[in-house]
Amino acid sequence: MRVIAIDGPSASGKSSTAALVARRLGWAHLDSGALYRAVTLAAIDRLAEPDWTGSRILALAQQLPMRLVLVGETFRPEVAGVDVEREIRSDRVTAHVSRIAAIPEVREWVNARQREAVARHPVGVVVDGRDIGTVVFPNAPLKIFLTATPEERARRRLTQRGQSPDAGQRAREGQALEARDRADTTRPIAPLRPAPDAVLLDSTRLSLDEQVERVAALARGRFPG
Ligand code: DC
Repeated sequence: MRVIAIDGPSASGKSSTAALVARRLGWAHLDSGALYRAVTLAAIDRLAEPDWTGSRILALAQQLPMRLVLVGETFRPEVAGVDVEREIRSDRVTAHVSRIAAIPEVREWVNARQREAVARHPVGVVVDGRDIGTVVFPNAPLKIFLTATPEERARRRLTQRGQSPDAGQRAREGQALEARDRADTTRPIAPLRPAPDAVLLDSTRLSLDEQVERVAALARGRFPG
């Protein structure tokens, strides 16, 4: 199975690392969080809140349809034929995504789309998320669990938004991230945790480039040729 699983908490740099590792290896990149976000976008725009149930959301996903489309070397979410990569990053989607991602039928649907994408890709796919090594691809030959301290993740998140955060802002954002980590690690379904055979990579003191190189080096060892 030509898949690399990269899991870890919010703002640990999973998606950026996964995208750059994929580019370096000539593989494709799939951000599983983007699929949860696309499902959330469709649900909040097209269903009334009492209808945010597994069966209604799955019916909607089929009817629209909601798909993963390979553009260049990136799998992008499409809703009713429209690329939603930008819209899914909006605050209104972020505000509701954990609730939608906690619905078991939604998780099964998302997992099936990921397995199809990997089965169809002839070269290999780097997939990032929270449960890729534990639930979606438990047989992936290479699994990475990427971490960094909450303070460092807060700094990266705020800097990414174009801010130059002071110590107080970093501390507040760090606390918000820790609260999300607690919710993700203690949820009953697909909690965030490293697979027993995952390589733990603490990126607190690594640059993005170093992080990418570490994963790419491990990949070259696991997938020779
Ligand atoms: O990585 P992200 O912030 O784009 O993820 C969006 C949400 O989806 C987040 O609340 C966690 C959830 N998610 C998940 O439960 N399982 C995954 N494999 C990926 C994301």
